[in-house]
Amino acid sequence: MMQHNYSYQSALAASERISWKVDDIIGGDKKLDFTKPFLPESLAQVKNISFLTSEEQITLNQIRGHEYLSMFGLVEEFILPYVVDHARLELSGDDYRVRALLGFAGEEAKHIHLFKRFRREFEEGFGTHCEFIGPAEDVRRFVLSHSPLGIGIAILHIEWMTLRHYIEGVRDNQDLDLQFKSLLKHHWAEESQHTKLDTLIIESVVKDSTQKEIDQAFQDYAEIGMFLDNGSKQQAEFDVESFVQATGRRLSKGERDEMSAAVLKGMRWTYLGTGMTHPNFLATVEQIKPEARKQIEEMAPVFC
Ligand SMILES: [Fe+2]
Ligand SMILES: [Fe+2]
Repeated sequence: MMQHNYSYQSALAASERISWKVDDIIGGDKKLDFTKPFLPESLAQVKNISFLTSEEQITLNQIRGHEYLSMFGLVEEFILPYVVDHARLELSGDDYRVRALLGFAGEEAKHIHLFKRFRREFEEGFGTHCEFIGPAEDVRRFVLSHSPLGIGIAILHIEWMTLRHYIEGVRDNQDLDLQFKSLLKHHWAEESQHTKLDTLIIESVVKDSTQKEIDQAFQDYAEIGMFLDNGSKQQAEFDVESFVQATGRRLSKGERDEMSAAVLKGMRWTYLGTGMTHPNFLATVEQIKPEARKQIEEMAPVFC
């Protein structure tokens, strides 16, 4: 039903070509460089804060980098069971489909491991503890309590947003820490197949859905989005507190409010805006329900 040339066979072939190991990316002499920013400024958005020195900008950027690792740790924890559950339903028939879906699940399990390894490296090198929302089990339980189509749409948003992070902010950026850049590049390379596979999963679920189920799915997508946004509000406060702990700087009430607002704005763009305005995500939404595209586009400015 959708205009694309995605297939399980070509996604599987691409995934087999790309395949990398966690140890290729982190560990041994492959270390984070704490003199460099970890995230592109388009995502970190620390330079708009009026009172930070350039050193403090890097510290806050790295705290946002830790938050990025942790946030992906959280979302991958619900993507994995979702993909496994879907693959379980499609075990017979097309051999390419079975292998592509199991490969998708295997890659997400690897990403969970990768993000954890980076977090451990971060914790060893950064010097102070950075708090993070969770636990992942609660997030997973909440998200998986929604309809399969609603979860599939939320995951498609996450896959396209990941691609955008790399292509728009990282690929041509020469300032970033090389290890973090490598993480984002390797993640992007596999997520590029996931966008296609998730589009195919959604098509197969939509085919068997009633209009009522489709309406419910978009309600579920909105609920999952609001849940992530509420988490971001809490996390923005944690990021500010981590900054205070790491730098020892005392912030006035005005400075604290300014920093919290800037971090929340950066988080909203990173995890919500970049997905919900992605043209390919919106194209899929429009194919399922044109009115839902309009609603998402109307909501988007708050997150951009
Ligand atoms: Fe992933
Ligand atoms: Fe993925």
